[in-house]
Amino acid sequence: MEIVTIDGPTSSGKNSVGFLLSQKLGYQYIDTGMIYRVGTYLVLTSNTALNDVAAIVNIFKSLNLRFQTDESELRIFNEDVDLTGFLHNQDVTQNVPIVAAIKEVREITKVVQRRLGESQNTVMTGRDIGSEIFPEAKYKFFLTAKVEIRAKRRFDQLIKINPTTSYETVLDDMIKRDKVDTEREVSPLRIPEGAIVIDNSNLNVEQSVEEALKHINA
Ligand code: C5P
Repeated sequence: MEIVTIDGPTSSGKNSVGFLLSQKLGYQYIDTGMIYRVGTYLVLTSNTALNDVAAIVNIFKSLNLRFQTDESELRIFNEDVDLTGFLHNQDVTQNVPIVAAIKEVREITKVVQRRLGESQNTVMTGRDIGSEIFPEAKYKFFLTAKVEIRAKRRFDQLIKINPTTSYETVLDDMIKRDKVDTEREVSPLRIPEGAIVIDNSNLNVEQSVEEALKHINA
């Protein structure tokens, strides 16, 4: 099986790039952030306390996930229930880093991710795919962009939902989130050994995919 890993910080465009790259290669696409988001959604809707590690671990142990690619979108099902539409609720986004920082949760999701990637040729995106989940992958990418540019991308999305959004606040939040992600004890965000770094500050999604394909076809 061939695995292409793409890691990177928030708003680096890794999910759009991963999706398009998977289509060009004819591989399945797995966005691992969705696994943490589904688990967090189930934690919140079952009123499980965020400090009840044993209960959270049980929720992750009982996940029965399936990914499905529609023409333009990746969907995720648990027990055949489509949860895709709930994953970007504000409470999920706010709490997913807390859940994703639990060591036992990451041990369970590692098994899930390995199984998914071993089943067929795959493009997998996340934070630690090239370092922890598939360190042996043939093609590893680290996608990034200047924080001001990533903040602008996020701002452009948020302003559509909330016209009072301020760019300065978005930038400030992103700098803080970068710090948490890179300094956390469990699986900190870092450039995986052997990964090709693509700074897409001045590239759109298609151009970033072309850049990745250049390395894959070389
Ligand atoms: O990529 P996305 O923003 O959907 O990921 C949601 C959250 O899940 C991240 O902020 C991070 O805390 C966590 N995550 C992770 N490891 C991954 C993918 C996501 O810790 N491989």
